[in-house]
Amino acid sequence: MDTAAGDAGVAERVRVGLLADLRLDEVAVVEARGRRIAVFHTEEGVFGVDDRCTHQDAALSDGFLEGCLIECPLHASFFDLRTGEPSGPPATRAVATYPVVDEDGELFVELPVPADGGVS
Ligand code: FES
Repeated sequence: MDTAAGDAGVAERVRVGLLADLRLDEVAVVEARGRRIAVFHTEEGVFGVDDRCTHQDAALSDGFLEGCLIECPLHASFFDLRTGEPSGPPATRAVATYPVVDEDGELFVELPVPADGGVS
């Protein structure tokens, strides 16, 4: 995994890989700052979310993708990849989302970096 410092320390950019290698409806997982981030390629774009359901300990990267919705593999809550919001119980809290930038065919996830440099 490659990382690059963001502008003025506001964001840390984590390289995901080449867009050409991430097929439509596929997911890639990257790790940074103690987090696992799932990066999904959908027809509406590429989206990054925490790779952990907000209900219990399930990897959303193991879920089932339907358009921009990812279905948790454990109890079937859906999360909207654009907003992180769950569609209904048992999950009630949104999953964190991260911007994904396409730079000349290379994908990067942007993570916020708190002012003290710790994990936000
Ligand atoms: S662990 Fe995801 S809905 Fe329960």
